[in-house]
Amino acid sequence: MTKRELFLANLRGEYTDKTPIWIMRQAGRYLPEYREYKRNFTFEQLCRTPKAVAEVTAQPVEILDLDAAIIFSDILLILEPLGVNLKFDPGPTVAPILERPEQIEKYRDFDPANHLWFVAEALIETRKRIGPDLPLLGFCGAPFTLFCYLCGIKGAKDFHKAVKFAINYPEATARLLGSLTDVSLGYLRMQVKAGADSVQIFDTWAGELAAEEFSQWSLPYIRRITDELSKDGAYTSVYIKGAYHLLDQLSGLKANIISVDWRAPLSEAARRLAPKTIQGNLDPNLLLGPIDLVVRKAGAMLEEMAAYPGYIFNLGHGILPETPVANVRALVETVHAFERKKR
Ligand code: CP3
Repeated sequence: MTKRELFLANLRGEYTDKTPIWIMRQAGRYLPEYREYKRNFTFEQLCRTPKAVAEVTAQPVEILDLDAAIIFSDILLILEPLGVNLKFDPGPTVAPILERPEQIEKYRDFDPANHLWFVAEALIETRKRIGPDLPLLGFCGAPFTLFCYLCGIKGAKDFHKAVKFAINYPEATARLLGSLTDVSLGYLRMQVKAGADSVQIFDTWAGELAAEEFSQWSLPYIRRITDELSKDGAYTSVYIKGAYHLLDQLSGLKANIISVDWRAPLSEAARRLAPKTIQGNLDPNLLLGPIDLVVRKAGAMLEEMAAYPGYIFNLGHGILPETPVANVRALVETVHAFERKKR
């Protein structure tokens, strides 16, 4: 079985002996080879150079023997063609910040195939670079998380800015979320056409919401994207950080994979979301500890999920820049050594 077949079998909820693993932010600053390669580029330049994207996308897969490649890019690049100024240093800054509903009228309607063509080219270049036997993943930000960055949030301490806008200007918010949904859908369709085997929608901030607000500001827009892609016959994955209280709402989506963080117990998520595939959920902070802790934690997760068909090992959020590469290697070896037993 190739890695692509292994990944797609798990995505479809089929039983396999082996468990595939990839890591959110797998191409990143914890890897010396990435730091070296990136010396010649700013982050934005790198994202816009398809051959360089292919190189950094392939790096972690080849160095660490990971089971899927995720295209090197960023969820916020879609904000630039709207007419917003975007800088990475390395955290993102958006200007001007969305504070008044009139600003929404100034956002431009655009065709992702015209403005984000470099992502399609990067997928095509990456497929040439990695060959046909590895799964290649595309992605975008969920409309609600993009909205949060438009409102200028940088972390949990200014999350209130997004809520403040949404509750004071509900109609403008719904209109904006609707148009972010339209461009995101077009963007993901472009990625599927360019060779992405599956696409992941990152809703990093939606888990901050209570169930009621989630059902207003996030879920309907993710539903539209996953419904439409499912009609196209494309595969989708939805990641939400802190989604434990939202599992029942997520179970109604047409997504193939739900990616959860460490606060959602894996087997409970698998039961409540069946027949969807679960992806996750090792706490990336635990990769900063001794190797034996990493091996023990990963072993326990694999045991817990051994009886469930369709499981993709991942972290519960992006890998931290200070993570020792030796810990990642030990993690991948532990996952690869484990044999799932049909029960
Ligand atoms: O997973 C991968 O390896 C693919 C590449 C990828 C990046 N960003 C590269 C990146 C992916 C899938 C993302 C998604 C992304 N970007 C999310 C959703 C997932 C999550 O982490 O919650 C969000 C919220 C962003 C926005 C963003 N971009 C932030 C908050 C930051 C700064 C944090 C950091 O890691 O420094 C970025 C910059 C960014 N995106 C970097 C990388 C490799 C660091 C820039 C650099 O290396 O110079």
